[in-house]
Amino acid sequence: MSRKFYITTPIYYVNARPHIGHAYTTIACDTIARRQRMLGADTFFLTGTDEHGQKIERAAQAAGKNPEELTTEVSSAFRALWDRMGLTYDDFIRTTSERHKRGVQALWRRIRDNGYIYKGTYTGQYCVFDELYVDAVGPGAPCPECGRPTETVHEENYFFKLSAFADKLLRLYTEQADFIRPETRRNEVMSFVRSGLRDLSISRSTFKWGVPVPDDPKHVIYVWLDALSNYITAIGYGSPEKADQQKFEKYWPADLHMIGKEIVRFHCVYWPAFLMAAGLPLPKGIVAHGWLLFEENKMSKSRGNIVRAETIVDVLGVDALRYFLLREIVFGQDGSFSFDALVQRYNADLANGLGNLASRTLTMITRYFRGEVPYPSSQAARTPADGAIAELATRAIAECSALFEQYQFSRALETAWGLVAAVDKYIVENEPWALGEKQDQHSLARLATILYTSAEALRIVTALAHPVIPDATAKIWAQMGLGEIKKFPLAELKWGQLPLGIKLGSVQAVFPRADKSAIERMQSMEEQQRSAAVAGATEAQAAPKPAGTGQFATQAAPTTAAPPAAPSKAAAAVPDGKISIDDFAKVELRVGQVKLAERVKGADKLLRLEVDLGTEVRQVVAGIAEAYAPELLVGRKVVIVVNLAPRKLRGLESNGMIVAASPDGGKPVLCGFLEDVPVGTRLK
Ligand code: ME8
Ligand code: MG
Repeated sequence: MSRKFYITTPIYYVNARPHIGHAYTTIACDTIARRQRMLGADTFFLTGTDEHGQKIERAAQAAGKNPEELTTEVSSAFRALWDRMGLTYDDFIRTTSERHKRGVQALWRRIRDNGYIYKGTYTGQYCVFDELYVDAVGPGAPCPECGRPTETVHEENYFFKLSAFADKLLRLYTEQADFIRPETRRNEVMSFVRSGLRDLSISRSTFKWGVPVPDDPKHVIYVWLDALSNYITAIGYGSPEKADQQKFEKYWPADLHMIGKEIVRFHCVYWPAFLMAAGLPLPKGIVAHGWLLFEENKMSKSRGNIVRAETIVDVLGVDALRYFLLREIVFGQDGSFSFDALVQRYNADLANGLGNLASRTLTMITRYFRGEVPYPSSQAARTPADGAIAELATRAIAECSALFEQYQFSRALETAWGLVAAVDKYIVENEPWALGEKQDQHSLARLATILYTSAEALRIVTALAHPVIPDATAKIWAQMGLGEIKKFPLAELKWGQLPLGIKLGSVQAVFPRADKSAIERMQSMEEQQRSAAVAGATEAQAAPKPAGTGQFATQAAPTTAAPPAAPSKAAAAVPDGKISIDDFAKVELRVGQVKLAERVKGADKLLRLEVDLGTEVRQVVAGIAEAYAPELLVGRKVVIVVNLAPRKLRGLESNGMIVAASPDGGKPVLCGFLEDVPVGTRLK
């Protein structure tokens, strides 16, 4: 029986559409899954969507939809994108599916029957954004993880005896050093557990959008217990069907849970504790990668600084995105995304690198040998350079494979591309085109050796790179007359397997070069999306739009420049002391996020703020220095009057006003939101 390999991505929240951060994890898993299949493992690759909990329920409310509608819509968008990108997941689990709910409830019963669930009262703070119980104190206290205001929860809940597992967990991390990778994450988790584990509230009774607690349907199961269970419910846990049970027996425990570093605690502390409590085997390993940054911040839906995979796929193709993410970012660390870097990498490594090597090698074989791979000939026509390429290729196979095993994608690709560069140099130095013009026997024999050597090296790079760039390598493989690349047994890859005399297919370029206009196209596609999103957010509430909005003006128009509006009928009907809705609509209030805050020299009360409004960053000078330390403001979301005429305070231009409650004789209190709101959203 063949070895099995079970790999999972996190299941993504459906409160917003996928971006390349989600694609990054899914691509990394897809690469590993493809490689495992080539190595002959019976591979199961799972992804899906996380659809319950308060965060999703509120997102649905905000969108004016019922949760079923929203979750189905967004879950389908994830799935459609993965399909479009050709990702080879074997199953897609939705936490709203019956098979999942049944499995979660079965897990709950098992943990309960083993004595690890009890009833108690939880009073404390909860962060809806992270769906996390936090240690913060007092209403609105910032979440220690994300800084957003927390909400106070006071409910009767079911608790999980997490405290009973601290020692067992520490033993697990110690005895199985590769349970959590990389090392930095392992250390974080160990110190978190060492600092003491408190029992965990695992049910909620104040909202409904979740899986009902077995035998007590007033409660729904805590969304993280619900979500983590997907890794077992998808492969049949809790199903009465024999076939499902066998599937579970076959694939569990998972070989690898791949996650982003922000959800390490849930996967490395809560999840193994739940499994221990249920008496189930633990996953073999958890790998946490770093964040994709864009414009220096974590790319995220809440920040609004996202790039969509669709744009890159449309302009440069799926392989370009896959290669860039895995080559450019050191797996495990944070890495920046930029369109410039993407196109540069694409041109250097794919168009001019592998693509060029393939087309020049295969074109010359077509031209000089009627499209049949030539026989490398006798000793007389060999030089040490040929042998050096063979040796380098042999080393590249071993090194590249070892690096892939350690999920060091960038180094694995660097090694494989070292071979591309060496063969390029070999071709340039040996000038096969010059030999091709000569007719003597020796030149022909030499030419045959050079082209055989180049083609064999090309075959090896193509096989090694297939899991990362499946489309282009499948084409190159077919052009070499080698058939279906995904069926190639990668473990057997070695120098000298290229069948002599094999007939090439038709030769076509796989990576057309990209120019500046590719960058511009991608940037403008993304900009359009962003402004559509901002417009969508405002239109959803169907309020009248003041003329000239849709894009924020960089400078608010001076109030005097606008002619006084003629009183309309509606306005005439407004009683004294009131304003009409049109009057109110003139005030443009938007959600901004403080990027920078500093004291203004010589002014005790003033702070200079730089506030991100989604489409621009504004300087605002605010009289709040006595109430707020500048360092506490950075990252905080605030409300800004965006279309206030600019004015100067202490020589600094203030472009807008920050909204605060100003108690008589007391310090100002900034206006904020209990739920998370995207930057740029209009208040009305
Ligand atoms: O956390 N850089 O879902 P989520 C790299 N539903 N990876 C990123 C990223 C970025 N900027 N942004 C997102 C949840 N990701 C839970 C998980 S699992 C039982 C439940 C990737 O929609 C990365 O894998 O917030 C991260 O961990 C995941 O998406 C979070 O997706
Ligand atoms: Mg997240």
